[in-house]
Amino acid sequence: MRQILVTSALPYANGPIHLGHLVEYIQTDIWVRAMKAQGHQVTYVCADDAHGTAIMLKAEANGVTPEQQIANVKASHEADFSKFLIEFDNYYSTHSDENREFSELIYRRLNAEGHISTKDVEQLFDPEKGLFLADRFVKGECPKCAAKDQYGDNCEVCGTTYNATELKNPFSTLSGAAPVLKSSKHYFFDLPKFTEFLQQWTRDEGRLQPSIANKLQEWFDAGLASWDISRDAPYFGFKIPDTPEGEPDKYFYVWLDAPVGYMASFKNLCEQRKESSDPQTPALNFDDYWLAQNQHKTEVYHFIGKDIVYFHALFWPAMLSGSELRTPTGVFAHGFLMVNGEKMSKSRGTFIKAETFTEHLHPEYLRYYFASKLSDKVEDINLDFEDFMQKVNSDMVGKVVNIASRSAGFIVKKYNGLLSADCTEPELLAEIMRAGDEIASAYENREFSRAMRLIMQCADKANEYIDDKKPWAMAKVEGNEQAVQDVCSVAINIFRQLMVYLAPVLPELTDNAKAFLNIDDLSFASRHQALLDHKINKFKPLMQRIEQSQIEAVVEASKESLERTNQPSTGDQAVNDKAESNNNKDSKDSNYIGIEDFAKVEMTVAHVLECSYVEGADKLLQFILDVGEDKPRNVFSGIRKFYEPEQLQDKKVICVTNLAPRKMKFGVSEGMILSSGDPKTGLTVITLPDDCTVGDKLG
Ligand code: 2FM
Ligand code: ZN
Repeated sequence: MRQILVTSALPYANGPIHLGHLVEYIQTDIWVRAMKAQGHQVTYVCADDAHGTAIMLKAEANGVTPEQQIANVKASHEADFSKFLIEFDNYYSTHSDENREFSELIYRRLNAEGHISTKDVEQLFDPEKGLFLADRFVKGECPKCAAKDQYGDNCEVCGTTYNATELKNPFSTLSGAAPVLKSSKHYFFDLPKFTEFLQQWTRDEGRLQPSIANKLQEWFDAGLASWDISRDAPYFGFKIPDTPEGEPDKYFYVWLDAPVGYMASFKNLCEQRKESSDPQTPALNFDDYWLAQNQHKTEVYHFIGKDIVYFHALFWPAMLSGSELRTPTGVFAHGFLMVNGEKMSKSRGTFIKAETFTEHLHPEYLRYYFASKLSDKVEDINLDFEDFMQKVNSDMVGKVVNIASRSAGFIVKKYNGLLSADCTEPELLAEIMRAGDEIASAYENREFSRAMRLIMQCADKANEYIDDKKPWAMAKVEGNEQAVQDVCSVAINIFRQLMVYLAPVLPELTDNAKAFLNIDDLSFASRHQALLDHKINKFKPLMQRIEQSQIEAVVEASKESLERTNQPSTGDQAVNDKAESNNNKDSKDSNYIGIEDFAKVEMTVAHVLECSYVEGADKLLQFILDVGEDKPRNVFSGIRKFYEPEQLQDKKVICVTNLAPRKMKFGVSEGMILSSGDPKTGLTVITLPDDCTVGDKLG
């Protein structure tokens, strides 16, 4: 029996679980259930990622202590996970004694081996908040293209990456204050020392997906850098131990203690199970899983998103190896979730919280849909609502559940629930049993979409068989009683095999199927048993069709919940908000926009200071506009066909001033001039009376 420890990435304790998160938890949970069904001893642990500036600020915004904040979020995360049938063996928190102990232990061992050094670092500091500013809390103008409102790490307009200190006119997103440069001592983990080890480790068979290993090679080629593992007070986290007397406290950066949270959650479970004699919840030996010398006894797998590979495939194994602990057997990355082919968007109602989904749709719909999309590749997966509805209705309701619903009625009504004593189609049943080997290996290799296809092929065979025999027609002819019972019994037996195969994906449905079939066991091995001369229970519909109106309700409610919560952006939320603002630029999924969308457009009275041709561009005119700001704006407009520059010189026009700057071949366009008409036949720039005040807002 293999002993396997599995983890999913720890969600931050600053926001609710949403469908983007669920890709990973559903993927991991399916894998864990499939491996348990194979008879392996599998332990699945997770925890809330409770430390860091984002959580500290979130608590402040919510008017609670960080401890209250993380307790509230943990309760809501656990409730969401349980609704989606994510069955952790332990769900813990990184703000725990175990995690502090292991983080300190690892740090001390790394330090003792000379892997930790210190260096003074100059960083932007918010003098009003008294905080050093992480990149996502600083905005300013891009040092390359001058686009406004860019974050401290890279420009969304021209794509340049830079240091926050290079931004022009920077401001703190927390207070609006102009940050100042301030120096402080930081602690560094010497990652470059581990280059050779990591190059080998990442190439070990089965450790990483090939595309990830190739990506890592690019990072090796670029050279690894030492990793800054400390943060200054105020910080919600663990103090770094053994710092020199009299020096200010330093804290572990959240990403130092986050993966240690995997160990801590497991250790906590070992304690809980110390006395256990229940084979379902066996006692576990911590050392078997985490000591370097035991790494061949057990297996450890981390499921993660593709954005955090660096932490899991470089920092984490280096930290572990440098402190005589075992490294993971494998790290499995998945892609991001798209909805209707685009990034999740709050304004479109596709940024869907787990809770909102369950208010309108059964969680198993999503589990099945994700399963039908997931593979072992690091590809993004698309939740297309049309396809979602169609797939669930056709596969789950139309194919699988239908097998039971079209056969059970006869068995229960005509034969008092009793299945035939003999199987009249042994070859058909054997064929479906044989498919189990390939299905099991597809699960193990995380090729869930292949597993679902194979299962649906089995369901198709069962339906073809029923269509061919037509028990409803047979039943009308006297003397066919045995034959009808036989056909329906074959169908019910195939249904049972399919439930075995689908159990990792649809645990609730299979539990209900167990009650209907009057059996306890749906483990993988049980697929070899046929139900003969066995009494089943009355059939109750096991899954309803999805209606379009339910999807519409989720989308509507997601728009509403945005209005209700409208949370300040911190942590991963900030990343999501950045992604979303990209999406909003080109919203094209509807002819209507809400008033709140319209209100976002900032239309400003502008004075045309200069209008000129653009060399090499036969469609453009270039404008220098006074929009009432310190500096004039540069705007390109595709109206050269319709105007001579002097016709617009000195005019008052309307400029959309909060359109994200766009980098064009000839420079950056910092707004849009409103015109009306047909771009093919003739556009008229909307001009305003001369006495309008420049900088006034319209709307
Ligand atoms: O990216 C995230 O959401 C992190 N909270 C994941 C942490 S995973 C592990 F390292 F703790
Ligand atoms: Zn730029």
